[in-house]
Amino acid sequence: MKGNEMSKKVRIFFSKSNQLSYRLKLGHRVKALSGKLEAISANRIKFGFNERLVESQIQSSEREQTHSFVRLEEVIGRDGDKNAIIELLLEINSEESIRVVPIVGIGGLGKTTLAQMAFNDEKLEHILS
Ligand SMILES: Nc1ncnc2c1ncn2[C@@H]1O[C@H](COP(=O)(O)OP(=O)(O)O)[C@@H](O)[C@H]1O
Ligand SMILES: [Mg+2]
Repeated sequence: MKGNEMSKKVRIFFSKSNQLSYRLKLGHRVKALSGKLEAISANRIKFGFNERLVESQIQSSEREQTHSFVRLEEVIGRDGDKNAIIELLLEINSEESIRVVPIVGIGGLGKTTLAQMAFNDEKLEHILS
């Protein structure tokens, strides 16, 4: 047996996956898990549940991809909010390497537009590039 072959075997022997205790623990967990699955399967029959395929509600391809393009001439009255966000982003102190400013609200309120406006502002150019 060559030297490196031997060292490989030794490494495998002492690796986590070959430890007896680890295997035992894993065995117990698999047993417990299969017990749970069996109970679920028994309940399915007991309560007469049927398998049915359900279409997922939101398909990832249906959601529009986010981008940073915004038509500023169409946006009305958001300069104050934009500047407030920029100020928060620029006042990063010495303990922070990054700052997160959440914009919260119901859909259609203009959160993404506001974020895009701030992102595109020249005052943030030096920290975003
Ligand atoms: N300040 C604003 N003035 C005019 N239109 C806006 C303004 N903010 C957002 N909109 C428009 O309203 C719609 C929803 O905005 P959006 O930023 O996508 O909302 P949200 O991300 O909160 O769901 C978009 O068509 C956007 O162009
Ligand atoms: Mg949005």
